[in-house]
Amino acid sequence: MSSPTQKNDSNAMEDSYWNSAAGQKWVDFQDEMDSLLETVKDQLLAKTNIEIGEHILDIGCGTGATTRDAAALAGAGGSVIGADISGLLLECAQQVAIDQNAASIEYLLVDGQTHDFTENSLDVLISRFGVMFFNDPVAAFTNMTRALKPGGRVSFVSWSYMNENPWFRIPRDVAIDRLGAVAPGDPHAPGPMAFADLDRVSGILSDAGLRDVVASSEKIDLFYRGTLDAATYLACNVGPVMRVVKELGGSPDDVKAISEKITSEMQNFVVPGGLSIPASLNFFSARKG
Ligand SMILES: C[S@@+](CC[C@H](N)C(=O)[O-])C[C@H]1O[C@@H](n2cnc3c(N)ncnc32)[C@H](O)[C@@H]1O
Repeated sequence: MSSPTQKNDSNAMEDSYWNSAAGQKWVDFQDEMDSLLETVKDQLLAKTNIEIGEHILDIGCGTGATTRDAAALAGAGGSVIGADISGLLLECAQQVAIDQNAASIEYLLVDGQTHDFTENSLDVLISRFGVMFFNDPVAAFTNMTRALKPGGRVSFVSWSYMNENPWFRIPRDVAIDRLGAVAPGDPHAPGPMAFADLDRVSGILSDAGLRDVVASSEKIDLFYRGTLDAATYLACNVGPVMRVVKELGGSPDDVKAISEKITSEMQNFVVPGGLSIPASLNFFSARKG
């Protein structure tokens, strides 16, 4: 990993969030999260059509599952930059061995919104759930687009609305039922559901100077390999539950009650070998002019 570049404070809240306990949880549950989100990665890469020798930027790469698969697709002549604002997640990414036949990978600890990426150097910008956290998305995409060669592609996936994603909705609703509603926030504020509105995000990409913007919402099933109890534990630790509990001062007894209710609500998703959880995802593609 490169030494941290200067980060201005434009994404200071996300910087501190992903470098604190929340980021550490992604590290602790890395294998489970990668397993749960594997279909999403595979769908994203299938849509991106990476070619041998391409130079790729994976924004908000986290612990690097998508980065590594993109490197395998680009082959030894290609390169992938995995860029992320979290040193915790990047350290974890760096510990995973890279296939010798894969493209070289460089991990950068940077804010994608402001980092001075080499201009006109990249063929593709990809991201699995790593671009919804910018405080100024147009500025961020304008900055990252500079790094694309003319004609270079953008291909990423975000979550659709919370109500269509029970992985988020059930824990959030159960926590609110127990503790009361949290203050309503700006639906477009940085966060997992900030890119739920296809038209809004398409506008962001156009305003950033991209063309041929294509946006689609698709239903897929996430597959969790493990028990119902383990899935509940994951949902309670990585997701909206802890935010609600923290904001409303929930006690350990509340957390226990919330967890039991989530287990009973997620019972419907149990299938042989794990849980099949319906999800609604937004896929976006665009091109630099
Ligand atoms: C939901 S995680 C997704 C991680 C990874 N792409 C995956 O699918 O496993 C979001 C990631 O975006 C990163 N992130 C948030 N804001 C960022 C920014 N301004 N610049 C770069 N990365 C950022 C976080 O640190 C985190 O790793």
